[in-house]
Amino acid sequence: MLDTTMTDLPDYVLKNRAHWDRHADQWVAGGERAWVGNPSWGIWGIPEADLQLLPGDMTGMRAIELGCGTGYVSAWMAQRGASVVGIDNSERQLATARRLAGEHGVDLELIHGNAEEVPFPDGHFDYAISEYGVAIWADPYKWIPEAHRVLVPGGRLVFLGNHPLVMITQHNDSDAPVGTELLYPYFGMHRIDWHDENGDEGTEFNLTISDWVSLFNTTGFDIVDYHELQSPTTGQEVRFYASMDWAHAFPTEQVWVLRKRA
Ligand SMILES: C[S@@+](CC[C@H](N)C(=O)[O-])C[C@H]1O[C@@H](n2cnc3c(N)ncnc32)[C@H](O)[C@@H]1O
Repeated sequence: MLDTTMTDLPDYVLKNRAHWDRHADQWVAGGERAWVGNPSWGIWGIPEADLQLLPGDMTGMRAIELGCGTGYVSAWMAQRGASVVGIDNSERQLATARRLAGEHGVDLELIHGNAEEVPFPDGHFDYAISEYGVAIWADPYKWIPEAHRVLVPGGRLVFLGNHPLVMITQHNDSDAPVGTELLYPYFGMHRIDWHDENGDEGTEFNLTISDWVSLFNTTGFDIVDYHELQSPTTGQEVRFYASMDWAHAFPTEQVWVLRKRA
């Protein structure tokens, strides 16, 4: 399905679309590895066995991935028996997902669009997930209520993204890894516009933990679990935006596991 509503899209969705279309090639190799690997999560590759974010058997479930990128999380769900929709803002990311789905013989419905507005009726899905998709790139005050709308009562929403601590310790105008200086205010965190030394730019979103909890409460989600991810080992190696030493001492990522209130 072609996204024909480009003129209606918020500025940050267009900016992030340009970012992901420009960088999609850099995510192909990682996507290919994840398609054939065992499910693992976040920048430290925490095994699914430790976090148990996916139901072991998803037979008969309707699942959606919000910001599916190269589609490997969608594939993991399809391999567990779910019928899966992946929606993504970048046509070039979806091109990789489509190719890999074809090569692996996995049936996915892949849609180009802004997952703050999902083209499905209320209560259509049993399970929704985002791993670094809308979880960080879309406005939570839009996408969380939208995920709630398309879930059945009792349905789960799981999302993984940067921990709020990262947002106040990482420069918005540099690729340098996170440090231990508090650079930005914690309170009031919401929209973060960044640009780097190479002229690249994007908009991410995050909230204080109390604002996340308040949003879940007012939207109608109960919190089932909350994980703060830690690097399993210390070391100088930097992955994406943090060294292992930093990430062994401080959480780089958070995972919220929510249930739509019946
Ligand atoms: C880091 S990828 C995460 C997806 C997947 N886990 C992966 O690594 O391939 C982020 C994805 O979120 C998508 N995205 C960003 N904003 C979005 C939005 N508003 N609606 C749908 N997808 C969005 C981007 O296009 C990109 O493909």
